[in-house]
Amino acid sequence: PTAKINVAIDGPAGAGKSTVARKVAETLGYIYVDTGAMYRTVTLKALREGADLDDAKALAGLAERTDIRLVPEPGGQKVIMDGEDVTEPIRTKEVTSFVSKVAAVPDIRNVLVRLQRDIADRRGVVMDGRDIGTNVLPDAEVKVFMTASVRIRAERRWLELKEKDPEATVEGLMEAIAARDKSDSERATSPLKQADDAVLLDTSHLTADEAAERIVRLCRQALEV
Ligand code: CDP
Ligand code: CDP
Repeated sequence: PTAKINVAIDGPAGAGKSTVARKVAETLGYIYVDTGAMYRTVTLKALREGADLDDAKALAGLAERTDIRLVPEPGGQKVIMDGEDVTEPIRTKEVTSFVSKVAAVPDIRNVLVRLQRDIADRRGVVMDGRDIGTNVLPDAEVKVFMTASVRIRAERRWLELKEKDPEATVEGLMEAIAARDKSDSERATSPLKQADDAVLLDTSHLTADEAAERIVRLCRQALEV
């Protein structure tokens, strides 16, 4: 069949969204879109420019004049901000600690959601984030809400971080993740929330491959009808 569907994957930090979404996209020959990377890119720019993070208008203007490109690559994607490769710098602890605050600004969300919908227009997109199924792509044929316990999510992050940041601890990461969960779930605009028609997938005891397999199965079912 030539028809393509769109796949929305939402959930809290460390649930496995990006790893699993990437695998699903690879299996189906679809494009993976990491919307968190977009919010991180705007946050990086705001921090570099010393923008006032309490000035919503200024932040929205900054988002408006930022050129964000997600370039698909084997095994991942490159993030280009105004021509500069920022794939690495958007993952720093500093950006991570400020991103939820920036992402809560409605005008910033408007700018980025427009961009995300434009990308999804071509179909055949696997998009992950916090509000994809509820707000960005309410018509996505497959919606998954991915979760795992806070401890398991923190342990996963710790495994990724321990070499780069020997001071990272599972306890510290649990705190940081819980704080981000709270701020993402309690904000007024497009909070993190399971869509009514999303399938809940707890990955606490699944490998990334097992989680990807389940989603690919949902996609194949949606493609057959
Ligand atoms: O990879 P990780 O789970 O750490 O987070 P991310 O997906 O890179 O997203 C970083 C932050 O961007 C989240 O904590 C949210 O505050 C925000 N975000 C959002 O508000 N809406 C989205 N669709 C994606 C991310
Ligand atoms: O995108 P999100 O923040 O939801 O999570 P991620 O960055 O894809 O996953 C965080 C880490 O957990 C990665 O190192 C994955 O390899 C790992 N992971 C896992 O161990 N088991 C899973 N079922 C999914 C992810």
